[in-house]
Amino acid sequence: MQAKQRVLTGITTTGTPHLGNYLGALKPAVAASQKIDTDSFYFLADYHALIKCQDPQTVHRSGREIAAIWLALGLDTDKATFYRQSDIPEIPQLAWFLTCMTAKGMMNRAHAYKASVDENQRQSSVDLDQGISMGLYSYPILMAADILMFNAHHIPVGKDQIQHIEMCRDIAMRFNHTYGEHFVLPEAMVEEGEPKVLSGLDGRKMSKSYGNIIPLFAPADELRKLIFQITTNSLQPGEVKDPDTCTLFEIYSAFASPEETMVIRQAYANGIGWGDMKGQLFEYLNDYLSPARKRYDEIITDPAYIESELQKGAAKARAHSEPFMQRLRSAVGIMSLVGDMGSKKQSTRVKKELNQEEQAKVDAGKAKAMAIAKQRADEEAQQLAIKVDELLKTIAASSHPKAAGEDMLEALQVQMDGAKKKAKKSLQQTFELLKQRLTS
Ligand code: TRP
Repeated sequence: MQAKQRVLTGITTTGTPHLGNYLGALKPAVAASQKIDTDSFYFLADYHALIKCQDPQTVHRSGREIAAIWLALGLDTDKATFYRQSDIPEIPQLAWFLTCMTAKGMMNRAHAYKASVDENQRQSSVDLDQGISMGLYSYPILMAADILMFNAHHIPVGKDQIQHIEMCRDIAMRFNHTYGEHFVLPEAMVEEGEPKVLSGLDGRKMSKSYGNIIPLFAPADELRKLIFQITTNSLQPGEVKDPDTCTLFEIYSAFASPEETMVIRQAYANGIGWGDMKGQLFEYLNDYLSPARKRYDEIITDPAYIESELQKGAAKARAHSEPFMQRLRSAVGIMSLVGDMGSKKQSTRVKKELNQEEQAKVDAGKAKAMAIAKQRADEEAQQLAIKVDELLKTIAASSHPKAAGEDMLEALQVQMDGAKKKAKKSLQQTFELLKQRLTS
């Protein structure tokens, strides 16, 4: 058992993170990464992005923006492992192993898939699976690979993702049962009590799909404009207002200290006007966000820096994933036929460690391979000789052997020019030998 607890979470690289994402995921994750008893793994889930988004530019841009946001928020990339999912080739490899351990019936019950089926049912589609890709259907397995690859203990996620963590445990248990104990069983880490969801411009939950978001690092003028769009009611300045049903107050209190919040609560009781309150919320948020936004603006224009951070993270992540995948491959029976030397890098290392007996086996194998290659070459030479002998016989039998020989050489030349690599080589050999025999 590892001494430190591992916390892991991913953000799908579609769209622009908003204030709700910041409070619900980014802020707690950056805070958790600073704890000494925790190893944190945070990643850009770009393979997941392909499930929802087929626009290459959006996937690419969003990856860059989200990486810049993590860095601007002060994630310590020496302490945390911060990487891009697609830089870790072992993750999709593991996903296949896990796919083979996953009951199809369980996937039929996955929320995201069921929601799409329900939607098709509602629209009376003949095909209930219409428009549903295998990516959407089996993405909980890819998510399980993300988690199990690093044997993470705690997965901070929104409530909608709890089922996926349960599926991940189920898959891990089945793998462990079949191939031995390789995986830690992860647990979802969900905010205690009422889940904090922030309301958006129209009062519904802030969500990209409702088009009601306030981007985390919107420039000041845009931030102001968006805040002034937030829906309120028709109460006039001077009239007492209820803070607890008000989006402005909700956002304000989500960022402010309890003392600051009390002051604003009092202002509602005193009948603060909506314009005034919107101005105050803007000032507060703008002050709160501007230092990180300034860093963000610098980072986003420096893709080389972002990339170097991601490469640093990928190297750290692969220091786990490469040897672990090697172990899992062996566990399922996929490995080199001689010793445990699956990867090239490892094979040179393992070779040095081979004992005499193993070395003798390897040498015998090599000698055998060389003998087979020599035998094959001899056979080829023999066949070539036979073929040329036959051609010579045909030529000799013709009425004008000299012209026939020249025609034959020319025909071979034409065939050779049109032939592919391997056939070409054989034709060339035939041509040369025939030419040699004709002139000798
Ligand atoms: N599917 C998650 C979401 O939509 C993102 C994600 C991908 C993730 N892989 C993960 C979260 C692994 C936690 C652990 O929010």
